[in-house]
Amino acid sequence: MRSVKHLAASAAAASLLTMGAFGPVAAQKSTEQGIQEYRDMLADGNPAELVELLGEDLWTKPRGPKNASLEQCDLGKGPGKLEGAVGQMPRFFSDTGKVMDVESRIVHCIVTLQGRDAKEVTAKPFSGAGQRPTEMESLVAYVYAQSRGTTIAVPQSHPEEIASRARGEKIFFFRGGPYDFSCASCHAADDQRIRLQGLPNLTKTEPAQAAFAAWPAYRVSQGAVRTMQWRMYDCFRQQRFPELQYGSQAAIDLITFLGVRANGGTMQATSIKR
Ligand code: HEC
Repeated sequence: MRSVKHLAASAAAASLLTMGAFGPVAAQKSTEQGIQEYRDMLADGNPAELVELLGEDLWTKPRGPKNASLEQCDLGKGPGKLEGAVGQMPRFFSDTGKVMDVESRIVHCIVTLQGRDAKEVTAKPFSGAGQRPTEMESLVAYVYAQSRGTTIAVPQSHPEEIASRARGEKIFFFRGGPYDFSCASCHAADDQRIRLQGLPNLTKTEPAQAAFAAWPAYRVSQGAVRTMQWRMYDCFRQQRFPELQYGSQAAIDLITFLGVRANGGTMQATSIKR
């Protein structure tokens, strides 16, 4: 863990960058070059680490009617075993009979271990601009941090896992809404961009690996950690589809599809993004 002083300095740098402190020199460079530069700058002091610390506190503190911590949560590797877990999710869990992603599984642990209400926990999973990170954002940041550097290996052995990936693929290519867009409209060609942002071709292994590995990410422009469920939610919004429900089957299936595409990659989350 890096020093708090270092973190504070990085957070200050991040907010300066949001304010556009790049100046005219950077404006001449491509946006991607610029983004890479501040990623490099912040790589050894990602403000997400502050959120990870909040998450660790929430993870280890006894709470809820059962006055229990989340330390016995099973993310697929056995109770309390977090290392490498998130790169192997979504996966089938026999105790629920469902394929679950990291976020829906954490909610499950909160409900079963702490005796809290799922509705209350997921009422507002994403923080608003300038707000404190939510409980989910904090827990997710902490949990992902335990798997940084581990290999992505989203399983396809249980029939439910295979079905989840297949549905995810179907959703990825399903066109609809006012623009008749699918995910593939923006994410299935090379060198496509929207305004100034590069659009990764998620049907290709390398960009799929980079994308899956990078989320959750600290969004400099929003000053917040954004989770994989948020990423799906926000792309549904960009696609002008109906609001994607947090932890829904559709969201999990899309993440399974992307995860299987990304197998063999290396987890980097929580990363830093524009
Ligand atoms: C209208 C275009 C558009 C559509 C349709 C769209 N996205 Fe996106 N997506 C974007 C943009 C723009 C970004 C990059 C956002 C950024 O960097 O701020 C992005 C980023 C992503 C990322 C993160 C990539 C990375 O490397 O960090 C993933 C994963 C993703 N989209 C998945 C999806 C999925 C799944 C769908 C279908 C539900 C979808 N997108 C539909 C525009 C779109």
